[in-house]
Amino acid sequence: MDHFHYLDDRIYCEEVALDQIAEAVGTPFFCYSEKTLCHHLSVFQQAFAKTAHLICYSVKANSNLAVLDVLARNGAGFDIVSGGELERVRRVGCPGNKIVFSGVGKTREEIRQALDHGVLMFNVESRSELYRIDTLAGESGVKAPVALRINPDVDPKTHPHISTGLKRNKFGIPYHNALDLYRDARRLPHIQLVGLDCHIGSQLTILSPFVDALKRVLTLVSTLKREGIDLQYLDLGGGLGIPYDQSHAPPLPDHYASALLKELEGFDLTLILEPGRVIAGNAGVLVTRVEYIKDNEDKRFVITDAGMNDLMRPALYDAYHGIQPVVRRFGREEEMVDVVGPICESGDFFARDRLLPAFAEGELLAIRSAGAYGFVMSGNYNTRPRAAEVMVRGNRYAIIRRRETLDDLLRSESLFDKGQSWPQPDV
Ligand code: LLP
Repeated sequence: MDHFHYLDDRIYCEEVALDQIAEAVGTPFFCYSEKTLCHHLSVFQQAFAKTAHLICYSVKANSNLAVLDVLARNGAGFDIVSGGELERVRRVGCPGNKIVFSGVGKTREEIRQALDHGVLMFNVESRSELYRIDTLAGESGVKAPVALRINPDVDPKTHPHISTGLKRNKFGIPYHNALDLYRDARRLPHIQLVGLDCHIGSQLTILSPFVDALKRVLTLVSTLKREGIDLQYLDLGGGLGIPYDQSHAPPLPDHYASALLKELEGFDLTLILEPGRVIAGNAGVLVTRVEYIKDNEDKRFVITDAGMNDLMRPALYDAYHGIQPVVRRFGREEEMVDVVGPICESGDFFARDRLLPAFAEGELLAIRSAGAYGFVMSGNYNTRPRAAEVMVRGNRYAIIRRRETLDDLLRSESLFDKGQSWPQPDV
């Protein structure tokens, strides 16, 4: 459930009309509903209330400080994948014991920062990373809390670019090597084995892959226990899908939790979950204005002022996002169109061959489900400043990231003669 709805034929985010925000802020902009974020988090928390757990919102989904702040104030911990994300969660006051550090490529500097902040655990993805963490923890005179991320080789049945739990993916430690690496890790002087981690992919729309993966890792947990390696945390990652298209509904957090908890009966583990999309995805929209309507041969293009640099998901994954007029008019015809951005690539589209109300030039459109993996994946391609971000709370809204300016974009560049240069060493 979200708090974007038509009222008197205008889309409201909570109690604020999107066209009103557009007048003040300009387009394109992302708009997030604080109430929706809180609701999604609390539904997730309640689903797992029966068991010891920690919800670590996956910062990568939407890392705006205002979003993190709302979630932190409502009890979330965080799943981070970089020093940058660590800095963000520090700035919203998140204590180390509510942070898990994931990712295949943690640098020395990032590991040191995470040790300094005292994160709850490192989700370790390779033997080399394990040894690196051991060395750095030794240098800092501490023991690093570690979970090994296991790749269970389970097909999550999602888009190949966002599937992570198959053995051909770069993620995790192969299931069959896991036991050996746990045995090695136990002998490392600056490693404290605290958990096991597993994340098989994103936008999963069925439960069976989660359950299959869980069964596999629980077998491992039991084997480890028999060997005297008694783990405290089981991190099951994120991945629960959301409805992008109203015609199909992925399982609700409640069903997801029941399916997992059934398998976990008899295990004394604190569960960690890393939801991202299910918290933020439908808590945000991208508002854009139609610049032009153009007919090419037998195709009609609706050209918007947002582009693939603002929302990459359709270009990257052929992803579906609902598109609605911000101001609805009844009786308007529908027509088959492509909704596209201004960027010089044919992959720059939001919808292809989609039946939509006949839009007019100058009209505002809301691109739905843009709260996760929207702004965070945006860029400056074609020297386009990144969009503004707005958050609504009841009948008020605030700009939580101002629109980038051309100065922001160009500030760090310099002409050759004005920049720092070095002579080519003699060879
Ligand atoms: N934990 C780990 C280790 C992850 O890699 C991810 C997402 C999550 C948690 C959160 O997953 P979620 O609950 O959001 O599905 N850009 C893509 C999604 C990439 C997901 C990457 N990892 C998209 O727009 O669909």
